[in-house]
Amino acid sequence: MSNPPRTSDEIRDAFISFFKERGHVLLPPWPLVPIGDPTSMFTSAGMQQFKPQFMGEEPPAAPRVVTVQRCFRTTDIEEVGDLSHLTAFEMLGNFSFGDYFKREAIRWAWELLTEVYRLDPSRLHATIYLDDDDSYRFWREVGLPDDHIHRRDEDLNYWFSFPKDTPGASGPCGPDSEIYYDLDPSRDPAEARLHTGPDGRPAGVGYSDRFLEIWNLVFMQLYQHPDGRRTNLPAQNIDTGSGLERVAMVLQGKRSVFETDIFLPILAEAQAVVGVDYLGGAATELQAYAIRAMAEHCRAATLLIGDGVVPSNEGRGYVLRRVIRRAIYFARKVGVREPFTHRLAAAAIGRLGGYYPHLVENQAFIQRALSAEEERFTRTLEAGTHRLEDLLERLRAAGASTIPGDEAFTLYDTFGLPVELTREIAAAEGFALDDAGFHAALEAQRARARQQGAFLKGEVSPIIQQLGDDHSNFVGYTHTEADAAVVAILRGNALADLLTEGQQAELVLSTTPFYPEGGGQVGDRGNIVTPTGVFLVEDTQASGGAIVHRGRVVEGEIRASQRATATVDLHWRRGAARNHTGTHILHAALRAILGTHVRQQGSLVTPDRLRFDFTHLEQTPREALAEVQQLANEKVRHDLEVQWRTTGYRQAIESGALAFFGDKYGSEVRVVEIRENSHVFSAELCGGTHVHHTGQIGFIHIIREGAVAAGTRRIEAVTGRAAEAYLLEQQDRLLRIAERLNTSPAEVEDRIDALQSELERLRKQAEQLARVQAAALAEGLVAGAERVGEAALVVARVDALSQDVLRDVADRLRGRLKSALVILAAEIEGRPAFLAAATPDLVARGVHAGTIIRAVAQAAGGGGGGRPDLAQAGAKDPSRIDAALAEGRRLGLEALSG
Ligand code: ALA
Repeated sequence: MSNPPRTSDEIRDAFISFFKERGHVLLPPWPLVPIGDPTSMFTSAGMQQFKPQFMGEEPPAAPRVVTVQRCFRTTDIEEVGDLSHLTAFEMLGNFSFGDYFKREAIRWAWELLTEVYRLDPSRLHATIYLDDDDSYRFWREVGLPDDHIHRRDEDLNYWFSFPKDTPGASGPCGPDSEIYYDLDPSRDPAEARLHTGPDGRPAGVGYSDRFLEIWNLVFMQLYQHPDGRRTNLPAQNIDTGSGLERVAMVLQGKRSVFETDIFLPILAEAQAVVGVDYLGGAATELQAYAIRAMAEHCRAATLLIGDGVVPSNEGRGYVLRRVIRRAIYFARKVGVREPFTHRLAAAAIGRLGGYYPHLVENQAFIQRALSAEEERFTRTLEAGTHRLEDLLERLRAAGASTIPGDEAFTLYDTFGLPVELTREIAAAEGFALDDAGFHAALEAQRARARQQGAFLKGEVSPIIQQLGDDHSNFVGYTHTEADAAVVAILRGNALADLLTEGQQAELVLSTTPFYPEGGGQVGDRGNIVTPTGVFLVEDTQASGGAIVHRGRVVEGEIRASQRATATVDLHWRRGAARNHTGTHILHAALRAILGTHVRQQGSLVTPDRLRFDFTHLEQTPREALAEVQQLANEKVRHDLEVQWRTTGYRQAIESGALAFFGDKYGSEVRVVEIRENSHVFSAELCGGTHVHHTGQIGFIHIIREGAVAAGTRRIEAVTGRAAEAYLLEQQDRLLRIAERLNTSPAEVEDRIDALQSELERLRKQAEQLARVQAAALAEGLVAGAERVGEAALVVARVDALSQDVLRDVADRLRGRLKSALVILAAEIEGRPAFLAAATPDLVARGVHAGTIIRAVAQAAGGGGGGRPDLAQAGAKDPSRIDAALAEGRRLGLEALSG
């Protein structure tokens, strides 16, 4: 017998081989972002990709399957940092689709654990569902003694593939049997059988920390409907999940998953960052917690980014952001000020890269994404801290000593300031925090989030269900015209028999060449002609399980069951096809030039233009964009054939075709491929319509590139005739500009340079003139200054062209008169402008230019103010300047004689 596996790599291999030897096919896992399943945010179990197979909607790839599924769960995120909780983990699983059931699942689990892993059978326990006597029998068959089999209720021994506490959620589920490992057999064996502990809480296997769950065997046999009813699935299935980290902990004889080979290199890097010998036991409790949280979160973030998630303010991106920020927060708490996330990511990739080469390929991108978020958060922390200080000041002024919960929540939610940090800073200044209020606000937000994550999938509408199956047969990949029958006329929520001229409706046809909006491509337009009328199709949508043609009758009338000829507007269709193929080419070109971290995040394809969002952290430099466009147009000129074929989803993914998150794919998918010789330039899962040869695109021109969100960039481009029109228009504009500049397009830039220097020369000249004007004005005012005691008072209206001139005059007067109060007014660009200035000796005597000017401006219906030595103000009505100056003189005299 060979040695039992020890390292995590060996454990994965052992699990896979064991089940392969028993007829299982190894299938690729999903990325952490579920494919074609908009109902869940993250992949959180191995079975997730098999829901349609369990529900009998799609045939399984094989009756027995084995996978290694990376998973991400946020349920315990607040606990991460302790010795056991994780957000990211790998789940080893074996599955049966109507093939073997409980007996084999239990026997094989036992064999793997006791004969391959060679765990001590006396340390194993199993829980089963209350009345599951079959499982009881099969556990006894393999030799598990009665006192190691524990019956537990639905809370423990039922597994749901959906959030079971969300009303209306539905999906496959079933009773399960969980396998536990006794971490401390030296303790009283009776502890295993307890149901409640001394504290009244549930105890024993399943609840006590002493027994670690290492495998869950789910007997997936039921479907829970939205109303809570449970009915049998088409077959009895097996879904199991065994956490790799926990198995490693057991096989490596460790007390914590963090002591396994999976985490050691990351912890080593984290302790270097913190500067304490954690592994040698020298860390304080706080440091140890921080180091584990940093390691776990950076590893999880690495896996998430590796699967295409980028930090953002919503959805998956927001969860990723929370994970990264939590790591940074704990690091700061123990004094870390240097960026570190990229270092821990490198350590995580070093450990995971052997099994997950995509992480190695994308290492640079992952590290940059982390560092960028780290930088952003450091700034946020500063802004959040300032805002908190303002808040504390306000509260102090109001005599409060508690931070209201909703304020703490805003700091947390909007400013990204962790509540623990808020509490800490507040406590240092003698403030408490309303925890209950904060949690209420948080809970309210979570409830909103849960609702958003709930069931989104469109169901076939009852009205369409009545129509049977024989409709909406799509022939648009090969035809733009088809003979058909009008199967249904929908008006509002009802069926109609007749449509008269001018009426709006939706038509369902037996067969249609009209492409319904999907995959970013807009729905087709065109017309549907029957013997009695013409229906203009303004949009086509897939809705309620049918292809519906939206529009109105433009001629005659349309009746249900009539024969019809459906014709797509070719102009519209060809434009959309050019832009759709153009989008694929740009996508491939972006990946070739910027790197394979570029992934489609969304797209819009219309007949006039295309828009393409993709993951990329920084602005794409202009030269790179030019290269992308050159490469794309090279492929256009090579006039490559665009081919499409339908194939199995797995074959497609395995052969490297790109699939996109958020899209729903069946087991049969369509792959659109552009090859050059034998090399695949672009292959995407896509249901859209395309040109047959890239040459038909004519030309691709990128109009702009910009940011949509952190980590997501957007390209807008035009193709074919629209590109031609766009460039012609640009050229026209250039010609018009040249004409207005009296020059040729080639000389426009020289001409602008010349105009700019001319402008600069004139500006300088104007400045000189203003200075001359100020000197002349000042000269005249010195002569007319009024003496009040030792000081001079100048109150005058002057002809100044700008505020600068006013100030210049005032400065000159102050210089010449030594001890003076100057109050000036001018009409500048149609509005009154005032200025007051006082020499330092007068300021020392209490003269305040700011107070004076405010009163002066008020006399003219305006406002302003400023320093004691210099102040400016404005108003609206020039006719009141003289009255204002009279007030100025009165105040001046008063100030100087006072
Ligand atoms: N689907 C089961 C789980 O995730 C195996 O625990």
